[in-house]
Amino acid sequence: MKHDYWHQRWKEGRTGWHLAEANPDLVKWWPSLKLTGDETVLVPLCGKSKDLLWLKEQGHQVFGNELSEIALAEFKEECGEAANGIEFHCGDIFELHADVLQGATAWYDRAALVAMPSATRKKYFTHLSRILPVGAKGLLITFGCDKDKEDGPPFLVDEADVYALCEGMFHCTVLERGEEPTYLLEKRPEYYP
Ligand SMILES: C[S@@+](CC[C@H](N)C(=O)[O-])C[C@H]1O[C@@H](n2cnc3c(N)ncnc32)[C@H](O)[C@@H]1O
Repeated sequence: MKHDYWHQRWKEGRTGWHLAEANPDLVKWWPSLKLTGDETVLVPLCGKSKDLLWLKEQGHQVFGNELSEIALAEFKEECGEAANGIEFHCGDIFELHADVLQGATAWYDRAALVAMPSATRKKYFTHLSRILPVGAKGLLITFGCDKDKEDGPPFLVDEADVYALCEGMFHCTVLERGEEPTYLLEKRPEYYP
């Protein structure tokens, strides 16, 4: 999607994807990553998600990426002191470099991959594999509604799509099928982009 599309949605307050509380699938499945809590977690395309707070509450350093300044201002205003310590990169995910990531070894994607049309998704996964270290673990929550694949956002990304995107870069395990298919991803050692 063009950046203007997202800027306009934030300007008009059309943020129907936003949840008032942490995503139940995050709460349910994050423990399956078997992390210590010390890890820095990258949250690409984070919006003003309460998931950032939940990850911080688990002990993680949290690093959010988001295009919209409005989103980040609203997050800070709505969360107050609870937002302290969460770091942000305000800009295009594709301009985020590994050296500013503060050693992130985990990532969380809810409504990020599915916000991208099919033509952009491989570029996104390749970018993640470049900026994250070998062994980095991610939780990916997609959108499984029965609809036209190119009619979005959100875009339908099915299991075959996820496996194809991961090929050569990430090991993929399906955690849950259904309305919001959820996956555990791990960056493979043998991939040299
Ligand atoms: C569908 S929303 C999901 C937000 C958040 N993950 C959540 O679950 O509430 C997608 C977000 O990605 C942001 N975005 C879109 N393209 C982006 C890009 N190229 N780089 C960074 N953020 C982007 C939009 O501004 C929007 O806030």
